[in-house]
Amino acid sequence: MENQKILEAHERQLKFSRLLAKIGRNNPLGKLICLRAYFLDLPVLTQQWRDYLYVRKEQISDKFLGLDQAIIHTSYADAKRLVETVPQQRDNYLGPLKINARSFFLGNPLSLGTNGNEHAGIRALFFHALPKPEETTEVLATLANQGLASVAKQGTMNVKTDLPKIIVALLHELVFNLKLSEAEIAGSAAYSANLGLATVPNIVHNTLLRKKTQPHIQHRQRLIESYKKSPKYQEYLAFGATHQLNEQQVANSLFDMIHVAGTAGTSDLLASVFSVLCQNEPLRANVISEIDAVWNCQDTPNAQTLAQLQLTEKVILETARLYPPVRFLNQMSTEAMEVEIGGQRCPFQKGTRLVASVFTAHRDPKKYESPDTFKTTRDHSDILSWNGSNPERNCPGRALSIALVKLFCLYALKHYQWRSFSGGEWDMKKFAPFKPNLVLDGFARRSD
Ligand code: HEM
Repeated sequence: MENQKILEAHERQLKFSRLLAKIGRNNPLGKLICLRAYFLDLPVLTQQWRDYLYVRKEQISDKFLGLDQAIIHTSYADAKRLVETVPQQRDNYLGPLKINARSFFLGNPLSLGTNGNEHAGIRALFFHALPKPEETTEVLATLANQGLASVAKQGTMNVKTDLPKIIVALLHELVFNLKLSEAEIAGSAAYSANLGLATVPNIVHNTLLRKKTQPHIQHRQRLIESYKKSPKYQEYLAFGATHQLNEQQVANSLFDMIHVAGTAGTSDLLASVFSVLCQNEPLRANVISEIDAVWNCQDTPNAQTLAQLQLTEKVILETARLYPPVRFLNQMSTEAMEVEIGGQRCPFQKGTRLVASVFTAHRDPKKYESPDTFKTTRDHSDILSWNGSNPERNCPGRALSIALVKLFCLYALKHYQWRSFSGGEWDMKKFAPFKPNLVLDGFARRSD
């Protein structure tokens, strides 16, 4: 019955596409049809995202229609081709979500949604603001240890709620040298957790949802105001100016870098790595042996310590393959083309959203042998979790996030302990940040 709903929703998409072929999509009626297609299809995806992908993939074809008349590409080969396309045209999308509520972002687009010089300038700012992990390992180590210590005070670690708080506080210290208050940390974690609200059009935000969205918008306003106190603020503004970015663009892009990209991505990945290590005892023992071989547990780990954690790195990459924090990557077609969907020729127009489905790509048997099995011996050089190797669009925080996850593993496994764990499963139905429901009970600092 559920499968039938997924297929019926696709039939509806095909009808819309025939209509759009006649009237065009870049006019008010075409836009309305795309919006209707999106709001009819999105609930099917958000309620059962994995089946949505696999039922359509298996019963229709590797590529199918979805969301706002997007073409969703599920094979590794197609996803990689999309990811590597240069130059890439984007619009304001975050994963499957179209960001309709600009007010949630104080009127700014996400960096992901910008193009050309504006995007190049914002990216230059990201690389400027993010420290190189090999030059700052000791600082990162201290911050990671502090983060775990703050959770140990509670006696329990709920990875879903605690890790985003640790990471958002850590990234503010790193990028702005600002120590957030408890209330600010809670506000920032809530902001990231409620990004789904941004999919609703502005008009609904300002009326029906006002009570729900206002606290998040006000938090963003206040925090951005507080960035002015950072010793690095003026320097970021000056750097931004050399790329024709004004104060609003600089502050908002850095806010999104921390809240949307950095916190969500890293806390999801770290949660998944913790879950893998909790559930797989032999693997955990091997990781601990590796740590023992390179670290005396006393000195602050340095870049060389991290470089030697090769098995740990493989665990992180294999986890990122099986549980990619970012499951959907978007770009807009730059010309009208045709695609075959379930044996039917389907013309599509310039400006159509093309989606790479990273989850299915990473579990494509044509690319990975026994794709659902966790194996640290795989070649991870071309996984798509950090958006591949496209220099124009890949993740600026890749190296930093891997270094951070290594450090959290190192401290958690050697300086902390927990009595038991519960959960550890990933939700394959409801679309939400892709992290397990793991809880570590009796989480405490070791006495030795
Ligand atoms: C310190 C942590 C991180 C920071 C600061 C960070 C920062 C960013 C930024 C600023 C972008 C936007 C780049 C642009 O507009 O061109 C981005 C994109 C991206 N990041 Fe990260 N990131 C971090 C961690 C992660 C992690 C852990 C993952 C997944 C394993 C990840 C996956 C991605 C992907 C897939 C994109 C491309 C999204 C798209 O194009 O739609 N990031 N990251």
